[in-house]
Amino acid sequence: MLAKVKSSSILGIDAYLLDVEVDISPGLPHFSTVGLPDQAVKESRDRVRAALGNIGYEFPVKNITINLAPADIKKEGSLYDLPIAVGILAACGLISHKLLDEYIIVGELSLDGGVRPVWGALSMALAGAKQKGIKGIIVPKENAHEAAVVQDICVYGVSSLPQTIQFLNEEQIIQPTVVNIADIFSNHYQYEFDFADVKGQLHAKRALEVATAGGHNILMIGPPGAGKTMLAKRINTILPEFTLEEAIETTKIYSAAGMLESNLALMTTRPFRAPHHTISDAGLIGGGQMPRPGEVSMTHNGLLFLDEILEFKRRTLEVMRQPLENGYVTITRATASLTFPARFMLAAAMNPCPCGFLNHPVKECSCSPQKIRNYISRLSGPLLDRIDIHIEVPALKYNELTKIKPAENSAAIRNRVGSARKIQQGRFSKSKIYCNAHMNSNHIRGFCQIDDSSRKLLETAINKLGFSARTYDRILKVARTIADLEETPQISMQHISEAIQYRCMDREYWQ
Ligand SMILES: Nc1ncnc2c1ncn2[C@@H]1O[C@H](COP(=O)(O)OP(=O)(O)OP(=O)(O)O)[C@@H](O)[C@H]1O
Ligand SMILES: [Mg+2]
Repeated sequence: MLAKVKSSSILGIDAYLLDVEVDISPGLPHFSTVGLPDQAVKESRDRVRAALGNIGYEFPVKNITINLAPADIKKEGSLYDLPIAVGILAACGLISHKLLDEYIIVGELSLDGGVRPVWGALSMALAGAKQKGIKGIIVPKENAHEAAVVQDICVYGVSSLPQTIQFLNEEQIIQPTVVNIADIFSNHYQYEFDFADVKGQLHAKRALEVATAGGHNILMIGPPGAGKTMLAKRINTILPEFTLEEAIETTKIYSAAGMLESNLALMTTRPFRAPHHTISDAGLIGGGQMPRPGEVSMTHNGLLFLDEILEFKRRTLEVMRQPLENGYVTITRATASLTFPARFMLAAAMNPCPCGFLNHPVKECSCSPQKIRNYISRLSGPLLDRIDIHIEVPALKYNELTKIKPAENSAAIRNRVGSARKIQQGRFSKSKIYCNAHMNSNHIRGFCQIDDSSRKLLETAINKLGFSARTYDRILKVARTIADLEETPQISMQHISEAIQYRCMDREYWQ
């Protein structure tokens, strides 16, 4: 007696379809699972046996072989419980085989026959929608909303094994879960903070507006108490709204990592994460025996804020060079080599010297030049080169703080940022990128044309300040964003000079 149930599994963040083949033959009672299962998959036997027993079915006292095909990819997790239970019942003739070819089934079983949520339902629905002949996907109820974001496949949320059996035997109708994507996006998130709280610091705010408009990395340098952390905590309030493609890309990562809230269909705000400086390489980049995404991937299409960046281990920072340049990380382990998307905007903050008061208008710095050099050099040249915008956040005097008029709020800034992003969406509609910061050299050649006087200005700055070829490109990208904020198609000399000005700080501190 043989039964074949379609299921799915996650490799990295993408899903692939697999067959759960169940063979029940006479002989001494035995249960074996093959197809590179890990411990959680092997333990499925005990959960399935108990669940079947508790809903009134007898577990066959026979020789049972489960094969997870393709057999050469390592399988992990408990999501095969439900397809294995269905397969056993089908092999015993208790479930009709008619629908088994048309539905993907995933779910963990509890001992009483209930179905528990799994990771990666969104990717599985995407994989199922691409496959010919697949009509629907049966997922745990808690995962139904995230899977239903994929409109090309019917999603059935189930809460128990008996319900699944009745559905497959066509004794019970389950309404497919439907989500309205327009409705999800219309729910506007309320932020805890607002840029209106930050007085003065107009230069820093302008730089942050440019950075978020184009997705550029930004570094803030300033003395203690200047407001760097305060500013950074408000960047997410001016980030542009997600497009559907971006939202799906990011939600897929959270879903595959098991970090998506239960019953949430789609993430509608960009992720903002601020890991502590004690984070490990694997925590930041991703890793583990079966590689899992790290912070750089959890902030894909969002914002990664590294406060006190010089306190991070130098090695940990250096591993960010690959994702900062390419927008993805590849992690190779004995079990698998996986690539995770990691196109994030980096915001970082630091003090100018160990005591923090270098260049302070009132307080005296007590650090020796050597000490300052050692401190500053913890941020390497190549990493600094990948940060498009460097700004100084000066300390404000107390009486300046009290005198300043109320500041512009986040909503007003977010509107301008949103308009600039709309222009970029149109520009990159035929490419796989969403903002200016991610342009490659072809895009730069096409979209960042400058006139002779601007070119002269840029060349003079390059020769004088010793910029690298990478910096040249990055200045052009920032200038493109500044022009987009002004809604002008042509990059002017004024845009170039503002972009150059954002790169002058490194000469001051890193020389
Ligand atoms: N521009 C400002 N407007 C209003 N409040 C401010 C401003 N700058 C600083 N403050 C106040 O000072 C506090 C300290 O600021 P914040 O923690 O952002 O400083 P920091 O630059 O990150 O310092 P450190 O280098 O020590 O981390 C803020 O919580 C806020 O109360
Ligand atoms: Mg701080």
